[in-house]
Amino acid sequence: MEFNKFRIRSYEGQFDRAQVENLERKCEVGPSESVFLFTDTMGDPICRIRNSPMYMMLVAELENELVGVIQGSIKLVTIQHHPPKDLAKVGYVLGLRVSPHHRRKGIGSNLVRRLEEWFISNDVDYAYMATEKENNASVNLFMKKFGYTKFRTPSILVNPVNHHSLQISSNIEISRLKIEEAESLYKRFMGSTEFFPNDIGNILRNKLSLGTWMAYFKGDVGSNGSQVPNSWAMLSVWNSGEIFKLRLGKAPFCCLLYTKSWCLIDKIFPCLKLPTLPDFFNPFGFYFMYGLYHEGPLSGKLVRGLCQFVHNMAVESNDDEKCKIIVTEVGGRDQLNQHIPHWKLLSCPEDLWCIKALKNEGLSSSINTFHELIKTTPPTRALFVDPREV
Ligand SMILES: CC(C)(COP(=O)(O)OP(=O)(O)OC[C@H]1O[C@@H](n2cnc3c(N)ncnc32)[C@H](O)[C@@H]1OP(=O)(O)O)[C@@H](O)C(=O)NCCC(=O)NCCS
Repeated sequence: MEFNKFRIRSYEGQFDRAQVENLERKCEVGPSESVFLFTDTMGDPICRIRNSPMYMMLVAELENELVGVIQGSIKLVTIQHHPPKDLAKVGYVLGLRVSPHHRRKGIGSNLVRRLEEWFISNDVDYAYMATEKENNASVNLFMKKFGYTKFRTPSILVNPVNHHSLQISSNIEISRLKIEEAESLYKRFMGSTEFFPNDIGNILRNKLSLGTWMAYFKGDVGSNGSQVPNSWAMLSVWNSGEIFKLRLGKAPFCCLLYTKSWCLIDKIFPCLKLPTLPDFFNPFGFYFMYGLYHEGPLSGKLVRGLCQFVHNMAVESNDDEKCKIIVTEVGGRDQLNQHIPHWKLLSCPEDLWCIKALKNEGLSSSINTFHELIKTTPPTRALFVDPREV
């Protein structure tokens, strides 16, 4: 039977790189009728997991042809009520692709099974993955066949960077935090956030992390002993464009026309400071805003100020394939979305995250934790989205 002919093995960069990139191109993932962003890994298909504490990439080979690929990473995160100390080992499944000519032969399932085996051999408590909810093949494979359960539906917010710097309200102060300060604030205020990474210090110290900034209102010194202003917000920026680029796929003609004519208007009337849309059809870099936290009655305005600040950073960045969009992913009850400028056409209001317990047999406390994780609709706790998994 043809089913048995393929072989699954670890990815070997020097032999497999070109074939994996080719496969990736053949499998552009995105809703068929609308605009979507395509990833260009610039000759390093493993770049999306390389910064995680542990990672693995598997390939499926059929008669010397690479027909499938999957990636996975492992880390320790906060999961409330998970014994001991609310920490659990989680395995992230990403980048599953099977060549269009070889689908429905069990290759995708076998790749997932082998990756789960690697998770289990490394003592992982939960496997999780994210997909578009319209991707039937992926949803069926993970939810129906492998028993993954809907867990969260965070929003991916995408905002284009235009040519002009934005004016930040004059009563807002924005200051850069030292890595140690950022680490300590994150541990204090986001340490109990779901999926908060135990190695936050490594993320902040990574060369892709451009820094952490805090915003507060001038003169707001906070109330006695709190050591933070009454209203404040913080975020960090990850230079994702350093490891892979994006480009727009399957853009409808009207969108192309809109982009071109808008640029023309801007060239003719620069003084109008119109929000020009960048050229999305060639590969471009992007910043990912992570660790977004805010507190206090007026903090929404501070979040907006920080987003404008990051936008201005991108305007000033001067590499060849400039940062053309700012991306963030937020989840939970928190209504952060309304304070984060974003462009609906490129954003995804509901990224579907699914989870599966890998070792619950006989452990009633683990079962309870898992039920806690999946029962909450709408989710009551915010979610930390790791920039290494974007
Ligand atoms: C999703 C994908 C990896 C599936 O690979 P595959 O090798 O065809 O999967 P399998 O043959 O192992 O199928 C396993 C199950 O997935 C589901 N499935 C797969 N393709 C499907 C489709 N087109 N429609 C509905 N369900 C589908 C079925 O439940 C199937 O079980 P069945 O064959 O017993 O009915 C493949 O379609 C693909 O590469 N798609 C593009 C990239 C992508 O969307 N990746 C997932 C991102 S998270």
